[in-house]
Amino acid sequence: MKDDIIITECMQGEPVPYTLLLIADPSKENVDAYIPGSRIYTAVLQGETIGCYALYDLGSHSMEIKNIAVSEKHQGRGIGTALLNHAIENARVLGVQTLVIGTGNSSIGQLHLYQKLGFRITGIKKDLFRDNYKDRIFENGIECIDMIMLEMRL
Ligand code: ACO
Repeated sequence: MKDDIIITECMQGEPVPYTLLLIADPSKENVDAYIPGSRIYTAVLQGETIGCYALYDLGSHSMEIKNIAVSEKHQGRGIGTALLNHAIENARVLGVQTLVIGTGNSSIGQLHLYQKLGFRITGIKKDLFRDNYKDRIFENGIECIDMIMLEMRL
């Protein structure tokens, strides 16, 4: 299936894939804050948009994958890995030297995936989720409180 997806950049005027973006980040306010500074890429399978990522320009040859999401029924089949590999290659082509990604302390699967692809933990934004999200978030039996930051040197 992952070999059948087509990943392309969402061009200006095309609809922003909010349904997907909100799977990774439940705050629309947050999403709306980084969309204008981001390039959005979508993964399409047989005409259906099933995944996306947002690449945000941090300046100084750094970009951050602010959001990556795969629709629930297509998760666990390699699409997320394909999107991340696309983001890494894409960032290289764009001249990026440091690619950043952040996720919650409770997102065990995501931390596994990012490190498996070569991202290294570089820091913690303490209390980011506790301070910025209205509702408390729990995953894998633990509360999501801090943002774990990871980087890859390209
Ligand atoms: N729970 C357990 N394992 C996971 C999870 C999870 N939630 N997510 C990824 N993994 C692991 C898989 O076990 C797999 O490991 P393996 O290759 O050693 O078997 C590996 O990650 C890759 O799996 P894929 O099938 O390529 O990943 P998938 O297509 O499911 O995409 C993604 C991963 C994007 C995290 C997807 O599960 C998703 O959309 N989740 C909900 C939204 C989300 O959490 N997005 C990331 C938030 S952080 C951010 O946006 C910057």
